[in-house]
Amino acid sequence: MNQDSVKIFEMSPRDGLQNEPVSIPTDAKIKLVNLLSKCGFSHIETTSFVSPKWVPQLADGDAVMAGIARQPNISYAALVPNMNGFERAVAAGADQIGIFAAASESFSQKNINCSIAQSLDRFESVMVAARTHKIAVRGYISMVVYCPDEGQIAPRIVANLAARMMDMGCYEISLGDTVGMAEPDEIRRLLDVCVRSVDGQYLAGHYHDTSGYAGANIRASLPYGLRCFDASVGGLGGCPYAPGAAGNVASEAVAHMLAGAGFATGLDLDALGVAAEFATSLRGLTPSPLTSS
Ligand code: HMG
Ligand code: MG
Repeated sequence: MNQDSVKIFEMSPRDGLQNEPVSIPTDAKIKLVNLLSKCGFSHIETTSFVSPKWVPQLADGDAVMAGIARQPNISYAALVPNMNGFERAVAAGADQIGIFAAASESFSQKNINCSIAQSLDRFESVMVAARTHKIAVRGYISMVVYCPDEGQIAPRIVANLAARMMDMGCYEISLGDTVGMAEPDEIRRLLDVCVRSVDGQYLAGHYHDTSGYAGANIRASLPYGLRCFDASVGGLGGCPYAPGAAGNVASEAVAHMLAGAGFATGLDLDALGVAAEFATSLRGLTPSPLTSS
């Protein structure tokens, strides 16, 4: 990817739908992924293989993976919390996986029922298995700026965790402002420290848009060398274990903003509009306007 290109890692089938209280039919999830596959994305997080007791909405991950019309040059990714999830993801044909840790102990407990240190131990065996299967692993860190239980998170905690996950073999670390409360100055303070441990080209921004700063946070991240941002068409998203967190920043808004700033995303804005309309219809919402957020 050249200096003027930015990748949007599409999250809507996973982060976008996981928090929906009403069960969304498998066919509708498959249709969403198929519409997204026409937009120009190189990476689509298609589902997760977590405990169905914890996230019932995505219990049909294997059926979704089996039903989609796979396109060449698209990596259909899945989030996994442990070896059980890894094995399910491999059986379902996931092209890559994501492991997810947190920078706050309380969110780690709430989200994956273990401490940060225990989660890293769990991930070690997933990393070994991923190497054997030649499956790329992306790392996520949640609550990188602010945690509702613990308040401000020190940037060095995030930087150390990011470095550790890179050492474990992740190819990229996605930094999650899970509750969408970070402001651009806070993102700058975070990245000032993180890029000393992990080069910006290996970091991604995963900014939820609760406070409306996600677009500004993306702009604040670009000078640090970040060239990948997570987003969901229609601004879908939320985490069942982070109450009040709104959706991911809308992919169509990010694509539009980046085009205006001179960055190529390779995305087709018309196809994005179609996918966003369908995605938001699944929640009874209207798509976000094509403006930067
Ligand atoms: P636990 O209850 O401690 O797990 O949950 P366990 O190992 O004791 O197993 C309990 C039961 O779950 C057992 O079944 C296991 O077999 C089963 P039982 O014997 O009771 O019938 N189980 C599984 N089943 C299917 N697939 C699996 C699996 N693992 C265990 N992979 C666990 C621990 C990690 C499993 C649980 O806490 C969990 O699944 N958490 C996932 C929560 C989640 O998905 N959160 C949202 C994604 S993260 C996010 O959105 C943030 C992000 O977007 C970035 C950001 O915004 O910051 C990435
Ligand atoms: Mg998220």
